[in-house]
Amino acid sequence: MKTIVVFILCAGLAVACSSRGKWESFSGDPVIEHKVDSVLKLMTWEEKIGQMTQYSADWDITGPVMKSDWETYLKKGLVGSVFNTVTVDGVRKLQDMALSQSRLKIPVLFAYDVIHGFRTIFPIPLAESCSWEPELMKRTASIAATEAAAEGICWTFAPMVDVARDARWGRVMEGAGEDPWYGSQVAIARVQGFQGDSWKDLRKINTVLACAKHFVAYGASEGGRDYNTVDVSRRSLYETYFPPFYAAEKAGVATFMTAFNEVDGVPATANKYLYTDVLRNEWKFKGFVVTDYTAVNELVPHGIAANEREAAMKAVNAGIDMDMNGNVFIRNLPQLLKDRKIKKSEIDRAVRSILEMKFLLGLFDDPYRYLDSTREKNTIMRPEFLQVAREAGRKSIVLLKNKNKIFPIEPNKPQTVALIGPLVKDKINLNGEWAGRGNREQSVSLYEGFTEVYKDSKVILTYAPGCDLTTEDRSGFGEAMDVAANADVILAVMGEDFNWSGEAASRTDIRLPGVQRELLQELVKLGKPVGLVLMNGRPLDLSWEDEHVDGIMEAWYLGTMAGYSVADVVSGNHNPSGCLTMSFPRSVGQLPLYYNHKNTGRPVEPENPGADYRSFYLDSPNTPLYPFGYGLSYTSFDIRNMQMNTNVLRPDGEIKVSAVVANNGERDGEVVVQLYIRDIAGSVTRPVKELRGFRKVFLSKGDSVTVEFSITPETIAMYNLDMKYVAEPGEFKVWIAVNAEDNRNEGNFTYRK
Ligand code: GLC
Repeated sequence: MKTIVVFILCAGLAVACSSRGKWESFSGDPVIEHKVDSVLKLMTWEEKIGQMTQYSADWDITGPVMKSDWETYLKKGLVGSVFNTVTVDGVRKLQDMALSQSRLKIPVLFAYDVIHGFRTIFPIPLAESCSWEPELMKRTASIAATEAAAEGICWTFAPMVDVARDARWGRVMEGAGEDPWYGSQVAIARVQGFQGDSWKDLRKINTVLACAKHFVAYGASEGGRDYNTVDVSRRSLYETYFPPFYAAEKAGVATFMTAFNEVDGVPATANKYLYTDVLRNEWKFKGFVVTDYTAVNELVPHGIAANEREAAMKAVNAGIDMDMNGNVFIRNLPQLLKDRKIKKSEIDRAVRSILEMKFLLGLFDDPYRYLDSTREKNTIMRPEFLQVAREAGRKSIVLLKNKNKIFPIEPNKPQTVALIGPLVKDKINLNGEWAGRGNREQSVSLYEGFTEVYKDSKVILTYAPGCDLTTEDRSGFGEAMDVAANADVILAVMGEDFNWSGEAASRTDIRLPGVQRELLQELVKLGKPVGLVLMNGRPLDLSWEDEHVDGIMEAWYLGTMAGYSVADVVSGNHNPSGCLTMSFPRSVGQLPLYYNHKNTGRPVEPENPGADYRSFYLDSPNTPLYPFGYGLSYTSFDIRNMQMNTNVLRPDGEIKVSAVVANNGERDGEVVVQLYIRDIAGSVTRPVKELRGFRKVFLSKGDSVTVEFSITPETIAMYNLDMKYVAEPGEFKVWIAVNAEDNRNEGNFTYRK
């Protein structure tokens, strides 16, 4: 049934009104503004509050189960959005329920956590970020949107853009790592992948609303313990945690989601500074804000609300628009309005922004426009989508160590390769935790990928699981050792259970879980070449492995085509090019650990490492085991001959800095050339390095290319002592490098006004 009544009325009003609406809309389109106003005028306050209400349809549980008679509200037109319902039939059923029985027949907005794929599952976001290919990340987000929209989903709760510097926190797997600037580039790519390049693209049938989450600083949870207290300075917010959200906002993200944590003593979901002062007044955000799951209810245990009525009041007065599955707004806002504890204008602002998105998606024209069973069937897991997943998987793999060139394991070299470990034949873990509606049984296991890629080769594959992912059970060690003893090369395939990273999955020990490392130690004793392929969702403590294992490949959770992607790289059919976007520590004791740290007043000086009374540990170097930006290749690259056209930067000028990048190895390959700067002395302390540019270049063996970057005042801009975003005069260093610890090509320049 179409929403004829509402539409005709809107059209009538739209024609009648010619001037711009009286409110600043997301689209800035006066026709849309008047359509929204015409609907708003028809609504009762309870119906308006209904639009601010979202429920989980219980198809999936992504938080504490909150039973409520939400279908009753749905039939009364008192539900603005439903999430966790999928398939055309499932969405149609609920849309019918809302439209056939409600007074105004306002279409419901259907949402889902489409984090890194919907049916076709791509590498987890942290893995994909290691590709350093924003266009690829945009493409996978676009495919995810296409599949989700084909099942009636119009809104995804992604991208997660939280900067994360503590591998104990399980949700590092959802983001783009530790760097605010790089995280901003990824945020833009993913927002545009989901939504298209402008709000006008939202009308297309293969785009969905995106959601920048979790605003803000969720990744700074103390102790890396999920949901824990966050206490960062306002400066840290602006320098580290805001940037990817700001980038998402400027890229046109339609929605934001609140973080569970408090910020500066106030939980994000009640934090007026964040959602009104910064997001709306400073950044001019015009979309709408949804809470995280029951986050309004949680203001009570946070200790900032005595009860849910007070929680609802504080959330609305902070600038929050929609209550995710908390059942709090619908039960408290009507009375709070009557008691004048919240403003009607706040309710109207929230409802306008929600209604506008429904208009922009075309749902008022036709609430069933996304619901086409034929399109659904023809869209899901198309072969071309699977090929993109396989490519994204290959490009997400980071080669961390390759002693004696154990990798690649050449198909045309006669050898027996023992595949040992709990993740060799595993399918269930490959999609990671936020696996959309991916069918875990459909993922290609590493064993299937190797069998396919090495068929008709001279490589004989043998296998034993050896142990499981989590327990102390060693009963499989004997068989594993026997299989390994009869092989030329041992390839251990180990990692984490997918539930051991993601939400509510923090760890105090980030080594390989269970007895996997113990099994690896036994395998190494055989004295044969041992390679390790890791499938996990966070940087691990690989200090023992780095010392004793010949080759280490970080393969993360690569999704539906994981087995093929890993086999493509291990076999050498694809030369790895991934580079880390999160530092790997030597031990959990170093966390939080990140490359763009401050120098302190007592830094460890490389030229005098033994000096006492410096900022060091007694039992470990300060440096990471593997740094930000690090990744090996099957070939080797050299960067040399760095040049600068000038060493003085002027306010209206630029410095061109370049270097020659050469492939001096035996294979074609890709390398991520990175530009770092350092502000030697500012009005506030500055990081010892900051990424400010990168180029991923392909070079045939023996070839070289000059890579050039431009440095302008924008490149060195920062928040000065007065929190003004400016370029400060002074001395700077610049590097062109292949990771954050590569200082081979260093230059200096001065910025003068
Ligand atoms: C979860 C997550 C959030 C997700 C939401 C809906 O608790 O924190 O990222 O989008 O609930 O599933």
